[in-house]
Amino acid sequence: MGINFKQLKKLNEGKTKVIYENPSDKKTVYMRFKDDITAGDGVKHDIIEGKALVDWKTNRDIFEYLNRCGVRTHYLSSPEEKVSIVKKLDLKINLEVVTRRVATGSILHWGGETEGKRYDPLITQFHYKDDFLHDPLLDESYIDFIVHKKNGTEYKQMRELNADTFIHLEKAFAHFKIQLVDMKLEYGIIDGRVYLIDEITGGSFRLWPYAKDEPNLKQDNVLAELNSSGRLDKDTYRMGEDLEKVKSKFEAIAMITDKFKDVSI
Ligand SMILES: Nc1ncnc2c1ncn2[C@@H]1O[C@H](COP(=O)(O)OP(=O)(O)O)[C@@H](O)[C@H]1O
Ligand SMILES: [Mg+2]
Repeated sequence: MGINFKQLKKLNEGKTKVIYENPSDKKTVYMRFKDDITAGDGVKHDIIEGKALVDWKTNRDIFEYLNRCGVRTHYLSSPEEKVSIVKKLDLKINLEVVTRRVATGSILHWGGETEGKRYDPLITQFHYKDDFLHDPLLDESYIDFIVHKKNGTEYKQMRELNADTFIHLEKAFAHFKIQLVDMKLEYGIIDGRVYLIDEITGGSFRLWPYAKDEPNLKQDNVLAELNSSGRLDKDTYRMGEDLEKVKSKFEAIAMITDKFKDVSI
């Protein structure tokens, strides 16, 4: 049986999910995961059969953990495989918010940053979400300007919510000897407040396993403490690994987040 999506109005379709109306509760929507995987602002694109199921599990376990931590998220429940119910967004904040604990990826090209440098406090980048423009980085005062134009105080709320989310997830992965290196999140307004929205799956972050039993993660550079070639994330796809290998990494993530329900808060 299950939910008959053919009868439901499609509200939005993105690269990895389809959003459908929920006729029995207009304040919520269905979020249905797809098998698609993309990189480079959608230029690289493939279908990995079974990816939707794996992402749905990861997303469910992460959001249920964050809700337990008291983070304000849109996530409500997961009524059937590949489908979640979330609070319907009133206003989208067109930002991709990138948070970094350890330097790697694009930041190495910008400032001559050394790979493995540890940021404490975390650093946060606000990118305008637009594939065509390649998600340009925005100046902080400009974001403040946009937010105030909308008569909101959301920017400050969003910053706090974002740091809390990162720290909660970093702690959870640490139980499994994995470092949350960096992460990309999205936010929106529901009932006048900022909520963490969208998805958190293997494509949302970089995860590097610890290289030793008791790594020293408080030093200025932690590259030698972590096993970056054992990475469990979408970088395998960006680097051109075969799709089965990519899928197995996403499955490994889902096996870890499955255990988040046992992590005490
Ligand atoms: N709580 C929500 N209510 C309504 N729409 C949402 C909610 N959370 C996420 N969305 C929307 O779902 C759409 C599909 O997501 P996704 O496939 O990730 O798109 P994209 O390709 O833009 O990254 C996006 O437009 C996103 O803003
Ligand atoms: Mg997305």
